Amino acid sequence: MAWRPDGGVWMMMTITIISFVQAEDSYRFFDFRVTYGNVSVNIDVPPTRVILINEKFPGPELDLVTNDNLIINVHNDLDEPFLLSWNGLHLKRNSYQDGVYGTTCPIPPGKNYTYAFNLGDQTGSFFYFPSLGVQKAAGGFGAIRILSRPGIPVPFPQPAGDFTLLVGDWYSGQDYKNITARLDGGRMIPRPYSVLINGNGNTGSRSTSLTVDKGKTYRFRISNVGVELSINVEILGHMLKLVEVEGTYTIQSMYTSLDIHVGQSLSVLVTMDQPPQNYSIVVATRFTHTISEKALILQYSNTKSKKSKFVPIREPDNEIDFSIKQARSIKTNLTAFRQNAEGSYHYGRIKISRTLILESSGGVVNKKQRYAINGVSFVPADTPLKLADYFKIKGVFKEGSIPDKPGRARIRLETAVMGVHHKDFLEIVFQNRELFVQTYHLDGYNFWVVGIGNRWSTWSHASRREYNLRNAISRSTTQVYPKSWTAVYVALDNVGMWNFRSEFWARQYLGQQFYFRVYSPANSTDEYPLPKNALLCGRASNRHRRDFIP
Ligand SMILES: *[C@@H]1O[C@H](CO)[C@@H](O)[C@H](O)[C@H]1NC(C)=O
Ligand SMILES: *[C@@H]1O[C@H](CO)[C@@H](O)[C@H](O)[C@H]1NC(C)=O
Ligand SMILES: *[C@@H]1O[C@H](CO)[C@@H](O)[C@H](O)[C@H]1NC(C)=O
Ligand SMILES: *[C@@H]1O[C@H](CO)[C@@H](O)[C@H](O)[C@H]1NC(C)=O
Ligand SMILES: *[C@@H]1O[C@H](CO)[C@@H](O)[C@H](O)[C@H]1NC(C)=O
Ligand SMILES: *[C@@H]1O[C@H](CO)[C@@H](O)[C@H](O)[C@H]1NC(C)=O
Repeated sequence: MAWRPDGGVWMMMTITIISFVQAEDSYRFFDFRVTYGNVSVNIDVPPTRVILINEKFPGPELDLVTNDNLIINVHNDLDEPFLLSWNGLHLKRNSYQDGVYGTTCPIPPGKNYTYAFNLGDQTGSFFYFPSLGVQKAAGGFGAIRILSRPGIPVPFPQPAGDFTLLVGDWYSGQDYKNITARLDGGRMIPRPYSVLINGNGNTGSRSTSLTVDKGKTYRFRISNVGVELSINVEILGHMLKLVEVEGTYTIQSMYTSLDIHVGQSLSVLVTMDQPPQNYSIVVATRFTHTISEKALILQYSNTKSKKSKFVPIREPDNEIDFSIKQARSIKTNLTAFRQNAEGSYHYGRIKISRTLILESSGGVVNKKQRYAINGVSFVPADTPLKLADYFKIKGVFKEGSIPDKPGRARIRLETAVMGVHHKDFLEIVFQNRELFVQTYHLDGYNFWVVGIGNRWSTWSHASRREYNLRNAISRSTTQVYPKSWTAVYVALDNVGMWNFRSEFWARQYLGQQFYFRVYSPANSTDEYPLPKNALLCGRASNRHRRDFIP
């Protein structure tokens, strides 16, 4: 089953014992205080309760450098448990710090927990977010940007500025606890109401413009931190040069607008080559009938002109086909410097050790609406799965509780864990039989998006002939188009308990997720030990840690 590095094809570095702290790397300390606030994001709805980090919505940006050691002390001043997770960051051999309920005990109200991890060899654009319940629908998220170390070449000139746009749909005017109660009661998922850019809806009260100089080139990092819908971003009159997707440098192609599906991040370079005036950055929901959009003003410095001549470019009839074509054009730049070190440029030649075909479904179980993957709707256990593994507590979860292929059986509730071997090479096919765009994310990994089907197509073995086995994009979050499929390859080189989920947040809350248990026969070199300060809860509450490896 397990693949082996054969004949130099697999260029992964040999795993050596790396202690948590690498002496030459810098320490970065952050103190995050999590509180509630009332924010009016839209003029036409009363202020809504949001989750603030250090009084900010969105939370403060983490500006980091490759190999930083992060020490983030999170103080939970909410009236309920809280956890932060790191969307797209690769915590190497360290799922304890992933901050999802399957790996980490929630921080109780009034308490704090200090995350500590090394960033390793990654650069790019990511974000953090609250992982419990539907807290993400109330904010609590913020951008993460990781720069290369000085002197390490980057495949484009230093931009004149680096802007972050956290965009997403928003259930405006509804308290997140009401939404939780509604979902717990088995009722329908509410529709998002509006679009936010950096926490702003259609309110005029907060700063909504960016100032740029004519002739200069700027980097814009854009993440879709929303709860359900795909977002299209366009800067009127300007072309977007895509350079990075979730930590991978791309072939630098030009786009008039880009689709960013929920949970995804990317960077574009934009040259200010137009007559000096104000331009709108238009952020609009995609593939929905009720288009919601929001514009941010891009203001050229020393603007005198009063005119504004650019109108959005719309592709109204075939948004899906346009989007599929665009998605297929996004590829890894194989000659760019410093692609993530564990990335193999020869993934297309590795033998697949196992194929999973994953299909979503919805249905009513015990009179409540639930969502499932391969017929299994995830229910959290009373104890984090990773702690159950560490303390060898039986009966918390059962490996193999989710099948490799969809079946015909009715939806069942289960603490679903897929057991996989360290160093397996997986092919995962997402088959979407529903009528809307789905998005899936895997923690702890990037995967190669080798194939995206046409509309109205079902994956079959013959679909493999269409795969891009040379320069597919490597990312952590992929969309799956309606009545279509997406295929990815994953090299399981990161031991741990890793969350796999739908990024449609209410659906993941109602069961559309599971955990990959990437297992290596108990070998201390493959994984960090349980952190000294780890919170213990559930059936692990009264346990004592085994010896630490210093
Ligand atoms: C938000 O507003 C409500 C109603 O005015 C108030 O009761 C609550 O204390 C406010 N919360 C915060 C955190 O300011
Ligand atoms: C909580 O914060 C204090 C400092 O405010 C720190 O000394 C302590 O280690 C933190 N606790 C945990 C579990 O991280
Ligand atoms: C790929 O990266 C190289 C090295 O940085 C750069 O010179 C080249 O322009 C990039 N190629 C494309 C097609 O984007
Ligand atoms: C929340 O639910 C309560 C009880 O159903 C209702 O009275 C209140 O108006 C709701 N508030 C918001 C902001 O959704
Ligand atoms: C350009 O945008 C700025 C900031 O929003 C605004 O103050 C200014 O009036 C705008 N100028 C024009 C010509 O629209
Ligand atoms: C654990 O790693 C050591 C050192 O690499 C190796 O000698 C040993 O065989 C490994 N044990 C298992 C169970 O894989």
